[in-house]
Amino acid sequence: MIQEFKKINKVQGELKLPGDKSISHRAILFSAMADGESRIINLSGAGDLNSTQECCRDLGVKFIYDKNDLVVSGKGIKNFTAPIKPLFAGNSGTTARLITGLLACQDFKSIITGDSSLSKRPMQRIIDPLKEFGAELISSENNTLPLTISPSNNLKAINYTLPVASAQVKSGVLIAGLHLDEVTSVTEKNPSRNHTEKMLGLRVEKSKQGIVSYSSKSNYPKPKEYFIPSDVSTAAFFIVLTLLSKNSFLTLRNVTLNESRTGYLEILKKMGASIEIENKVEKAGEEYGDLVVKSSKLSNIKIPGNLIPNIIDEIPILAVAGIFADGEFEISNASELRTKESDRIKTICENLRLLDLTVDEKDDGFSIKGDIKNIKVEFQCNDDHRIAMAFSVLSMLLENGGKVNGIDCVKISNPGFLKQVNRVAK
Ligand code: S3P
Repeated sequence: MIQEFKKINKVQGELKLPGDKSISHRAILFSAMADGESRIINLSGAGDLNSTQECCRDLGVKFIYDKNDLVVSGKGIKNFTAPIKPLFAGNSGTTARLITGLLACQDFKSIITGDSSLSKRPMQRIIDPLKEFGAELISSENNTLPLTISPSNNLKAINYTLPVASAQVKSGVLIAGLHLDEVTSVTEKNPSRNHTEKMLGLRVEKSKQGIVSYSSKSNYPKPKEYFIPSDVSTAAFFIVLTLLSKNSFLTLRNVTLNESRTGYLEILKKMGASIEIENKVEKAGEEYGDLVVKSSKLSNIKIPGNLIPNIIDEIPILAVAGIFADGEFEISNASELRTKESDRIKTICENLRLLDLTVDEKDDGFSIKGDIKNIKVEFQCNDDHRIAMAFSVLSMLLENGGKVNGIDCVKISNPGFLKQVNRVAK
């Protein structure tokens, strides 16, 4: 579907965005693993969460809705039922990589498949550590899905250092580690999101090599109640739209403030953004609070390489902020962007070139120079939800507005995106 956006005059109001996608995936999976009933409050309605839920359902987990809460009847350790068909992870890398860690430790064979985008994304990164762990895994020739996982009698705890920062891989390995008495550790040089560690209460230490997280059977999840704060990555699109529109203000309620996710807020503040945090609270190790955002004049800054894993999902919308900010926007050390739902470096560069900007595409990033011309454009989403939302925001800031081709894919992380835009954009 092609969505046309007109230039908006201002943003005003308040939004309560859906539950955080990363925390929701983990809440479903950990509830499924726990022996008994768990309750999830404010679960994200994102399409990706249906994938995690469906995979768990195929493993014998029961879900019922009690008003807006999801009640999960978990199976307990090694009590999952063998799936009678391949588990379909849809578009969701988080589902595929986290569940691989779980399936590697089961007594039955399973197969994970995905949609055409997920079937192109790299799986070797989770296969390597899990093979070291003793798991039996076979991928396609290109090291992609489908992945076949067979039972193994040779599982052993490992100490694994991540070659590339990835919360998905770190979590997959730590989840496998939950099945053994011996302690498994994962070391990462630059910190990626740490929801798995926080939600399972894992030991985390700093060492010379980086940050080390530990898991063993003693950390296996128990039934509990999860409260999911609003998604800080979803908030980013509304924050940038507000900052760059005149006479605008927006309050976003109960947003995740986990320090492994808020790097982009720090970057925007350094660029000159007016973003205040109010009513900060902590529940079950996760901090959240309200974000109060006002129109601001932005200037580009140098984005530190060690922050890339923290801001990886917000780079498309930071690039949009960057083209309206003084100076040149540049991002490097971010080759991981090429392995997301689309090759985000390529997709961003191709779309920005439509505006006659000078875009220099590099292996690990890009830079943007020049002034935006008043050209009518149609941006391409390449089936990538964060590209769709970033270029929707850009369209609403352009004098002539803009069209976004393939807007439907916003459902992957935020099905209510257009409704929320209509509520606050005037
Ligand atoms: C996620 C980790 C990140 C992120 C993705 C969600 C998670 O991926 O891009 O949207 O929930 O663990 P990588 O771990 O591959 O960097």
